[in-house]
Amino acid sequence: MTVAQISDLHVRRRGHVLHHMPHVVQPLRRALATIAALPHRPGCIVATGDLTEGGSLEEYWRLREIIEGTPVPIYLIPGNHDRREALRQVFNDHAYLHAHGEPVLFTIELPMLRVIALDTSQGKRHGGYLDRSRLGWLDESLNRRRDVPTILAMHHPPFPTGVRKFDAQPFEGRDALATIVAAHPQIARIICGHVHQQLARPWCGTLGVAAPSTAPALVLRPHAPGLSREPGGLLLHRCENGAVTTTLVRTASTPVSMSA
Ligand SMILES: [Fe+2]
Repeated sequence: MTVAQISDLHVRRRGHVLHHMPHVVQPLRRALATIAALPHRPGCIVATGDLTEGGSLEEYWRLREIIEGTPVPIYLIPGNHDRREALRQVFNDHAYLHAHGEPVLFTIELPMLRVIALDTSQGKRHGGYLDRSRLGWLDESLNRRRDVPTILAMHHPPFPTGVRKFDAQPFEGRDALATIVAAHPQIARIICGHVHQQLARPWCGTLGVAAPSTAPALVLRPHAPGLSREPGGLLLHRCENGAVTTTLVRTASTPVSMSA
């Protein structure tokens, strides 16, 4: 069973161009086409936040138009660029978005694999946020099936990434999350976005990974000042015999016109 992860789509209104991320729509379409063409089609696609640039209705409608017709179920998790109300309004038929109260919290039950999605966004806050109620829901969900390999999916990495600007952002509830993660060895991965590049780090007895953006982007380098050009891509998390293997798939190369 494979879970495909796309992240930091940053879909925006037509004509709105960002210098550090000039193209987003075509790379997203290519990422979805790549997933659809895989010989072993994933059980689902999880989008780990920053679905849109500004969280407007117009942007979510554009996102909806792009992902419509993808032959694999897509689950959307908000990031700090998203706005839950607009997301829920445009994707009102995505029942999991409405499964819990205010934050978007849901589980995906696949054969011999679970995904637990955590909403770490809170208003316009840049850093991660998990209050007692979200953490209580997580603990309860994990205790319900302790014997099934589980992937925790969220936008903000709770583990250090080496990217100073992001590591400096406070993550409310990180210590309590660490305690819960350490008490549940069935957590095979924590999959995140936010840093727009692929990296991995052991954390609390599991492996934390961050996915690249689906779009090519100029990103902050870990452990070094300055920027690097990052091609777009996605991650595949394949569970076999109870263990998860993560593979990086590059789907969009860095445009030559992009300058540092
Ligand atoms: Fe982002």
